Amino acid sequence: MNPVEIGDAISDLAQQPFDAAEFPFQFLEAFGNKKTAIDRLRKGNTNQSDIPGAVLQRSHIHIATCQPGSVGDTLTALRGSPKTTSQKARFILATDGDRFEAEDVTTGETVVCDYPDFANHFGFFLPLAGITTVAQIRESSFDIRATGRLNKLYVTLLQDNPEWAAADRRSDMNHFMARLIFCFFAEDTDIFHSGYKFTETVTRMTSGGVDNTHEVIQELFRAMNTPIADRTAAGIKTWANGFPYVNGQLFSGNIDVPRFSRTARGYLIHIGNLDWTKINPDIFGSMIQAVADDEERGALGMHYTSVPNILKVLNPLFLDDLRKHLEEAGDNARKLLNLRSRMAKIRVFDPACGSGNFLVIAYKEMRAIEAEINRRRGEPDRRSEIPLTNFRGIELRDFPAEIARLALIIAEYQCDVLYRGQKEALAEFLPLDSQNWITCGNALRLDWLSICPPTGTGVKVRGDDLFNTPLDQSEIDFENAGGETYICGNPPYLGSKWQTSEQKADLEQIFSRHTASWKSLDYVAGWFAKAADYGTNTPTVSAFVSTNSICQGVQVPILWPVIFATGHRIVFAHTSFRWANLASHNAGVTVAIIAIARDETDRGATIYSIGEHGETTAKSAERICAYLVPGDGIEIKPARRSISGCAYMDLGNMPKDGGNLLLSFNEAVEMTAADPNAGKFIFDFVGSQEFVKGIVRNCLWIEDHEVEEARRSERISLRLDGVRQMRLSSDAESTRAFADRSHRFKQIQGRGKSSTIVVPKVTSERRAYLPVGLLSSHSIVSDNAFALYDAPLWNMAIVASRVHWVWVSTVCGQLETRIRYSNTLGWHTFPLPKLTEQNKADLTACAENILLARETHFPATIADLYNPETMPENLRRAHEENDETLERIYIGRRFKNDTERLEKLFELYTRMTGKGKAA
Ligand SMILES: C[S@@+](CC[C@H](N)C(=O)[O-])C[C@H]1O[C@@H](n2cnc3c(N)ncnc32)[C@H](O)[C@@H]1O
Repeated sequence: MNPVEIGDAISDLAQQPFDAAEFPFQFLEAFGNKKTAIDRLRKGNTNQSDIPGAVLQRSHIHIATCQPGSVGDTLTALRGSPKTTSQKARFILATDGDRFEAEDVTTGETVVCDYPDFANHFGFFLPLAGITTVAQIRESSFDIRATGRLNKLYVTLLQDNPEWAAADRRSDMNHFMARLIFCFFAEDTDIFHSGYKFTETVTRMTSGGVDNTHEVIQELFRAMNTPIADRTAAGIKTWANGFPYVNGQLFSGNIDVPRFSRTARGYLIHIGNLDWTKINPDIFGSMIQAVADDEERGALGMHYTSVPNILKVLNPLFLDDLRKHLEEAGDNARKLLNLRSRMAKIRVFDPACGSGNFLVIAYKEMRAIEAEINRRRGEPDRRSEIPLTNFRGIELRDFPAEIARLALIIAEYQCDVLYRGQKEALAEFLPLDSQNWITCGNALRLDWLSICPPTGTGVKVRGDDLFNTPLDQSEIDFENAGGETYICGNPPYLGSKWQTSEQKADLEQIFSRHTASWKSLDYVAGWFAKAADYGTNTPTVSAFVSTNSICQGVQVPILWPVIFATGHRIVFAHTSFRWANLASHNAGVTVAIIAIARDETDRGATIYSIGEHGETTAKSAERICAYLVPGDGIEIKPARRSISGCAYMDLGNMPKDGGNLLLSFNEAVEMTAADPNAGKFIFDFVGSQEFVKGIVRNCLWIEDHEVEEARRSERISLRLDGVRQMRLSSDAESTRAFADRSHRFKQIQGRGKSSTIVVPKVTSERRAYLPVGLLSSHSIVSDNAFALYDAPLWNMAIVASRVHWVWVSTVCGQLETRIRYSNTLGWHTFPLPKLTEQNKADLTACAENILLARETHFPATIADLYNPETMPENLRRAHEENDETLERIYIGRRFKNDTERLEKLFELYTRMTGKGKAA
């Protein structure tokens, strides 16, 4: 279950009459426990409680219902219960149906409330459903519940009005939802005068069982679009007449309203009765946008970007600098005034803004700084000088674009209330300003300079309809020409394999004149190129969250020369980290934050990374190279031989045999049973899958001088004929040329006479180490793995090390979420200090220990052994020792983290090759 579904289930439970005996089971069910698990608890099989009538679910919760008035004592009993401790219950919960008390035993945090209010605290208990990552969700209970309910309304309305689901009416539906959300917010925040509540009016005017909900809402919208002076002429009904004139063109244009069934009306009233003052526009927008998205609806906004992650972009981009100046200004009135004037001219532009969360947070943070300036200057009530129109965005989809505008309007109102008071906020809120500052369109096709002009265009255009504005109307004059521009956001990432033909065409028109290899680029690369283009016209700093793949492997030499050629450099970067979200499986992606600006900007360069204990560390560098390590102009080029004196790594062997040279385990057994002489020619055949998953496969391996002997076996002979036939029928001449040499693989790279070290071509990035193994002389490596034939065993210790993992994942890049290994790019380039004989002996011992540790778990496969959740302790220790031994050779101690590993490797690489300049 996702948090929205849990929120709904808990709300339902809170509204039911309290049933003391059933409550513990109902509560657990609402958090997604299966019926079978509940039944077992009910029967006592898994109920570990030592308190009569209570229910204890191991590792989760100890719940007791009790007599009226004894909630406090019962919670004390639960806390003192030996079983709470021994069964590692995370929560204890007591209720009598009147009061509700609970505690998180690990943090000591408590919830104490009236019974029906516990639904408001469902976020507190989300770890029960395995959702632990984002503490912020606890503060977003309202947004989650509102999203869940709006989603139900949306789906019901589409069912009731199928014509509204058609592509040409979707935007009407989206406008309608945006208007509703505004009304809910406005009625709870007194933007609508008391006595003129939207939900109440709809409820009252539609209570007669008449099917007129749509007419009532339509009339209310009409009123909100009619200036008071024109109301009589417009014939606005008296019951709607008290609603204010909202303008902002929010209610103009097509104000059709879909028809409401009884269910839809019920949902509407239910939603209206939520407390909309609690809406948090930085989160709500991202969640709600999923409602209008057929593909996203299942996840209901659970992929939203958390505020701390957005601040990882905005703080170093410009907010830290503003705060620094605020601190430096102290109480100096003139300096404070200068800072305020500077802020009034700052433009923030997000060219993939979704529902505007980066813009909203930038706005709110700037308002906080401005409020502090005003406080210090003794002008606390002063109207904000930060225009909302300075927060600009482009968004492809119309619903998020609308929600972005709404989120900014709400943010402005909430900031006014917070810093200036409700009275001032209300006095200036309506009518809304109709200027358009979010453009709906394709950011890779639009001219960013005209959407976010660095100087005024001299044309001041007002939209006829805030929600239906042609693109050229975004050319609003900035009253603040000449200020700073910061570009930010989290544009879409899509590997080349996943791009649509339109998206490919977007990239082509941007990159094809610079590079023929643009097809390998991720879609996000287009935003960097557009930002660089914008930055060549006007000073700006652009920082995007991006898939880290653009700073790895093949994309580096394609994208970055294009960006650097415009005079841009990387001015700060946040090295790879997991971009977690609220989705219950919390898959997340690995991202980096990269900021670019032209050389002339006088910023230093800073690399941020996540430290050992999860803290963010910042490090200054003279330059940052495209791999996001200190350095300049570094480009890792494939090498034919190891630059460090390691063994030569080759590919495995390609049979091109139509399957005739390959045998399953059973076929091999049958063949040797039928003809014992055949056994000599049967070898283990090992590719990535066989090695990692422990799949046994075999192949025929016949040297040229053995053909006659091999053909004496009838089964082998038949198979060789099969190879011949297959090769003869091939379209490729090179394959046909091998028909007469049917006893051998078409491409033979090598065979270890004594042993072979095997390295799969791709591996899951979840594994902390690259899977590498040692094969006997009776093994053939297939062409989907790499091999070190007859190499000294210390080479295996190198492949198995964390430093090598870090190098390969950066330099070779990734294939979706898998690391793509390369012999020429990852192994031959790998920089190692010069190894002494003693170093080699030590590393050999480490490799042996890894192999021995694996042996103790026979027949576990490599996949089992290297599962990060279940990796055996002795194997982990063997790897730790290997890392310790190797890292001491580099720097005399263990590296602190992967960032330090990478920096050392790049420094060594540039020293060894003389290419580029490391820091
Ligand atoms: C990763 S989301 C980020 C949105 C928002 N900042 C957030 O965190 O939820 C990327 C956004 O880019 C939008 N988008 C995708 N392709 C686009 C394009 N070509 N032009 C403009 N926006 C686009 C998507 O609709 C989506 O809202």
